[in-house]
Amino acid sequence: MNTTIEEILKIRKPRPDYPVIEEIVARFSPRHFLNEEININDINSIFEAARFAPSGWNYEPWYFYWSKNGERSFKKIIACLGKYNRYAQSASILVVGCFIKQFKGKKSYYRHDLGAAVMSLVLQAQHLGYYSRQMGEFNKSKLVKMLKIDKTHNPFVIIAIGKLGEYKNIDEKLLKREMDPRPRKKDFVKKLD
Ligand SMILES: Cc1cc2nc3c(=O)[nH]c(=O)nc-3n(C[C@H](O)[C@H](O)[C@H](O)COP(=O)(O)O)c2cc1C
Repeated sequence: MNTTIEEILKIRKPRPDYPVIEEIVARFSPRHFLNEEININDINSIFEAARFAPSGWNYEPWYFYWSKNGERSFKKIIACLGKYNRYAQSASILVVGCFIKQFKGKKSYYRHDLGAAVMSLVLQAQHLGYYSRQMGEFNKSKLVKMLKIDKTHNPFVIIAIGKLGEYKNIDEKLLKREMDPRPRKKDFVKKLD
C-alpha cells in the first residue's frame, strides 16, 4: 500500500468541537517515526517543559532517562519493550519516565505529577514538530537492571519521540494499526447545579 502522511493525518488528527491550542489539535501518538537526529536545543526545551510542570507540594517527583537512536542504551530500552511496542525502534529518542515515591503522611501524588510532567513534555515536543507515543508495556525489572536505574526511580512509562515517519514503505500490519481512528467520548463533563 502506498499510504501518505496526509492520509494518516486525515484519520488520526484530532477534530475538536471547540477551539483548543494548536498542539492539541496536532497531537496524536504515531507508531512510525522518521529516524532523524533531534538537535540538543530542542531536546533541552522538551525536558525544560517537564521541569515546570505542577506537582503536589512542589515535590517534582519525576526523573527522566533518555537515549538517542543508534546508541547502546537505545537498543537496551527497545529490548525491554513489549512485542507490540517494538515499532519504537524508528523513534529519534526514547525517554524513560520515572516517578519517585514521595508522601506527606499517607497522601501521595507522584503518579499524577509524573503524568503532568510527561504531558508538558509531549506538548512542548509537539510545539517543536515532534510526535510522541507513550508506552506502559515494558519489562520494568529488566529495564532497571540493564540501564542501572537508580533505586529511588520507578520507571512507569517509555516515550518514543521523533518526526512523523514516511508512511509509503511502512510494514502492512503496523499500517493497519496506524489507520485505527481514536474517537473520543463526549460524555465526560457535567455542570453541577
Ligand atoms: C500511560 C500510557 C500508557 C500507554 N501504553 C501504550 C503501550 O504500551 N503501547 C502503545 O502502543 N500505546 C500505548 N499508549 C498510547 C495510547 O494507546 C494512546 O495515547 C491512546 O490510544 C490515544 O491515542 P492518541 O494518543 O493518538 O490520541 C499509552 C498511553 C499512555 C498515556
